[in-house]
Order: sequence, then structure tokens, then C-alpha cells
Amino acid sequence: MTKQHCQVAAFLVLVALPITAGQQGTSDARSERGRQFLGLGPAADPVAAERGRQLFTENCAFCHGANATGAEGPDLVRSTIVLHDEKGETIAPVVLKGRPDKGMPSFASLTSAQVYDLAEFLHQRVEQAANRFGYQMQNVITGNPKAGQAFFNGAGHCTGCHSPAGDLAHVASKFEPPDLQAQFLYPSERAPEARKKNSLTPRVIIQLPSGETASGALKRIDDFEVSIWDALGSYRSWPRDEVKVQIEDPLAAHRELLSKYTDADMHNILAYLETLK
Ligand code: HEC
Ligand code: HEC
Repeated sequence: MTKQHCQVAAFLVLVALPITAGQQGTSDARSERGRQFLGLGPAADPVAAERGRQLFTENCAFCHGANATGAEGPDLVRSTIVLHDEKGETIAPVVLKGRPDKGMPSFASLTSAQVYDLAEFLHQRVEQAANRFGYQMQNVITGNPKAGQAFFNGAGHCTGCHSPAGDLAHVASKFEPPDLQAQFLYPSERAPEARKKNSLTPRVIIQLPSGETASGALKRIDDFEVSIWDALGSYRSWPRDEVKVQIEDPLAAHRELLSKYTDADMHNILAYLETLK
């Protein structure tokens, strides 16, 4: 299975998996769940990533920032091209040809091995930026519920989608603390009925030049092509410059939150959610 397949499969399968009590597992299993939740492939090769970091520092950091989170040039950690890259193949065309009209120079002299190393560095950055996986799930609640409530109503913008008296009422009675924590970090649907009502699977909507639209699960997106699996399971693809692409991910907010929480925020939110018995 290629990484693209894994990514799509991860979205499709993972969001459909029920979270049952006791499904906490080892930190490796947790890392895997976190990577899947974010649609990432296997962990980057650290040796290649280190070579890539040096190349990046010399050639790219000036525009994209030392951590690739953006400066003059865009944030590469949130770039769909980087997210959907496997081994440099979607990054390579951008790097080798550049986009001279838009301020991205070409690096035609980089070898494919060097592009691979750069890609591994970027994949590692994506994971590190979003990495809450090494974080220890709490069996003991140590956070401050008042601070958690303030975060919920304020910086976390949780009230845009949730209400403690509505959908989250009694949420703490439904899960043991470690599972409640997993559920707010990596929400997933639990019951098939809920899935039918309100799917959490990310969808891509493609607007064709004719004005017609097509939609399905994203297979791949790069500078030249976008492809999907449609509702009938058929593979369809279009040249990128002929269509408008819109990605709808009901859990986008949760995927973004993962890279924003401090450890204290996570403790505090859990303590607050625990008050919703
Ligand atoms: C002189 C500044 C500059 C340098 C140096 C530079 N970039 Fe860029 N890069 C840009 C700009 C600006 C864009 C956005 C172009 C656009 O708007 O389409 C970009 C876009 C990209 C993208 C596409 C992002 C996306 O999602 O569309 C990738 C990948 C990328 N750069 C990687 C690299 C790598 C790897 C290097 C080093 C080998 C590098 N860049 C060096 C300025 C730079
Ligand atoms: C843009 C919308 C959005 C925002 C913002 C958001 N969530 Fe969610 N959240 C969801 C969706 C969608 C789900 C999936 C389950 C569902 O539909 O309730 C979910 C699920 C959850 C669950 C699991 C509920 C259950 O019954 O299994 C918890 C707990 C949760 N979110 C907490 C939070 C917290 C805490 C924040 C803020 C730090 C937050 N959410 C911000 C959309 C959002």
C-alpha cells in the first residue's frame, strides 16, 4: 500500500473506528493513532531528515523560516503539497522547477536523493509541529478546571462548535478520563447511527470548468493533478489548473488544535470536561 492509500484509508477507517475503554495502548500505538488522525504517513527517517535539515538551512530557510513554518515564503508545515508527499515526489516538481513568477526560485541542481532528504525533513517538521503523541495520557487529573473552562470559552474557540449544556453535556459520564482525553484530542465517531447522520470523513469538492462539481475522498493533490475516490469508489483525476479544489474536513479544527495546545492546556481541558458529568 502506498502512503497516499494509507492516508486516505487512515481518514476513512480511523474516523469510523469506535473508541472503547482501554484502547490506550503503548506510546508507539499512540504515535501511530496521532499520525493517522493527522493523515500523516510513516515516521520520517531521522538520518535522512537530518541531512535534509542542513540542506534546508542552506537553501530554503531564508524564505520558509528555519522551522519551515514560513517567513517571506509560505508555511510548509501546513502545505497540502507537503502533507500529501510520500518520498519527495510531489515536492520535487516545485523545488526543481520553482514557481519563478511567484517568488519560488528553481533548484534544478538538487539531486533526487537531496530532494528526498528535504522531504523527510519537512515530514519530520509536520509531525513535530503537530506532535502531541509523545504526550502522556493522564490517568490522574492534574489540570485546573477553571483554566480549562476559560480556554474552552476563549482561546480554544470550542464554543463555536460545542456547548457544555448541549452536545457535551454528561460527556464525562460516557468515557473514562484517558478515553475522554483521547476523544477530545483525536475525536472519532463512535456509533454507526451517528456516522450516517454526520460523517466526519474529509471530502474534496472539485469544481470543473463546466461549472459541474464532483466530490469524494482525496487521493492525491500536487502542483499538476488532483485525484479522488468518488462515492462509487471510482478513481478520478484532473489537471490542477483546470479545476477549483475545496477540502472539507469536519475535524480540521481538531487537527489544528493539536499543534496549538500546550501541555497545560490539555491538562486543564481534561479537568474541565471531567466536570461535565
Ligand atoms: C527566495 C525565496 C524562496 C526560497 C529560497 C525557497 N522558496 Fe519555496 N516558496 C517560495 C514562495 C514565495 C512560495 C509560494 C509560491 C506560490 O505562491 O505559489 C514557495 C513555495 C514552495 C512550496 C509549495 C508550497 C505549497 O503548498 O504550494 C514548496 C514545497 C517549497 N516552496 C519548498 C521549498 C524548498 C524545499 C526550498 C529550498 C530548496 C525552497 N522552497 C526555497 C519562496 C522560496
Ligand atoms: C469547528 C468545529 C469544532 C471546534 C472549534 C472544536 N470541535 Fe470538538 N468536535 C468537533 C466535531 C465535528 C467532533 C466530532 C464529534 C461530533 O460531531 O460531536 C468533535 C468532538 C469533540 C469531542 C468528543 C465528543 C464526544 O461526545 O465524543 C470533544 C470532547 C471535543 N470535541 C472537545 C472540543 C474542545 C475541548 C474544543 C476546543 C479546544 C473543541 N472540541 C473544538 C468540532 C469542533
